[in-house]
Amino acid sequence: MIDFDFWSPTYIAFGKGKESRTGELVRRFGGRRVLLHYGGGSAVRSGLVGRVGASLAAAGIGYVELGGVKPNPRSSLIEEGVRLAMSEGVDFLLAIGGGSVIDSAKAIAIGAANGGEWRKFYVGREVKVRPAIPAALPVGVVLTIAAAGSEASTNSVVNLEPENLKRAAGGDILRPKFAVMNPELTMSLPPFQTACGLADMFAHLCERYFTPTADVALSDNLCEAVMRTVVEEGAKVMANPSDYQARANVMWAGTLAHNDVCGAGRVQDWASHGIEHELSALYDCAHGAGLAVVMPAWMAYVRETDVSRFARFARNVFGVGIGDSDDAASLAGIAAFRGWLKSLGLPLTFEELGAKGEDIPLLVKTLNLNGNTLGGFKPLVESDVEAIYRLCLRR
Ligand code: NZQ
Ligand code: ZN
Repeated sequence: MIDFDFWSPTYIAFGKGKESRTGELVRRFGGRRVLLHYGGGSAVRSGLVGRVGASLAAAGIGYVELGGVKPNPRSSLIEEGVRLAMSEGVDFLLAIGGGSVIDSAKAIAIGAANGGEWRKFYVGREVKVRPAIPAALPVGVVLTIAAAGSEASTNSVVNLEPENLKRAAGGDILRPKFAVMNPELTMSLPPFQTACGLADMFAHLCERYFTPTADVALSDNLCEAVMRTVVEEGAKVMANPSDYQARANVMWAGTLAHNDVCGAGRVQDWASHGIEHELSALYDCAHGAGLAVVMPAWMAYVRETDVSRFARFARNVFGVGIGDSDDAASLAGIAAFRGWLKSLGLPLTFEELGAKGEDIPLLVKTLNLNGNTLGGFKPLVESDVEAIYRLCLRR
């Protein structure tokens, strides 16, 4: 195990009806004037925005609203949010939604606390070390989709216009103060979005599981347990979207997959995420769908880096390759992973995603490694990234 700092202060209020506590939680974490931020309509249609607003009013907290966050959140709305937060004297950001809304709120929280400056903290793989964020307003979350894990993560990923680049900011300062997590709120998700969420949280575990670090038994076992839970409980959710207990297990898995409890003490990879972010930037596809295409291709490409780790993955997560050689088991594990993604109805190729082979040089260019390598399990150079995109062309 390698040394680590771990600080995960997000207060979780989990269960049915917990959104009624939002006002109390904002007050507890110091908010007195809130910017209520939400997406393209689902949280308004379900009445959730109204219920949360009532909870704020009951706690004596004033608020202004800014809806309209699109998946792969855009910088233009963030700019509007920063102006609104500053002109209205907002001291707390409240995100109602999923990763896109939360990440947009985190960006506004940075801008409002730094005289309008937020963009320079969003960088890509061209830098080795992300710039430190000096200040950010506190952020709270009412989560409506189990997926990105942003409700307790250190990150924010946004789409910078007009260049159309998907870039990330990071730091403990971006961990939300609280997350209200009512699994019932996720029951209205379309099956495709539920599936994308499952793929994303599984990918967050893979990014940590595939590591060159030895002697990390605890986090290996944690990763495997959460992966198995995502597969097993995810199948129940897909079969019966109103299964509260399965929704609850999936929702908590999404948080544990990305608050870094499963990644502490180990070198992590994150190449697949870097490779995927270029796809969701260029094609505006769902992040989880892009990962369903990229992750199996990445696995096939890097398998020989540590065949025994892929064999362990096959046996302990998918229960395949038990009596086989490590080589055969590792291949069976990747095949089982693909089969699982297919069973969720997710795309597996560029064509199924709506991506184009002729764009591969552009994708590699916008990833902009700038001489750096990508990934901690097997450091990739540009030609490796291109080869992985090419593997995405076929099943
Ligand atoms: O906009 P509305 O109408 O609300 O619809 C949303 C959106 O279309 C819909 N939705 C959400 N909750 C719903 C619902 N529809 C019905 N019922 C509900 N309860 O779902 C769609 C997708 O929402 P989005 O917020 O984009 O989903 P997700 O949570 O998957 O977030 C994806 C974003 O997070 C980033 C991704 O890159 C992507 O931009 N990520 C953020 C991370 C982080 N901050 O730590 C890590 C991740 O790896 C990821 O990169
Ligand atoms: Zn992700």
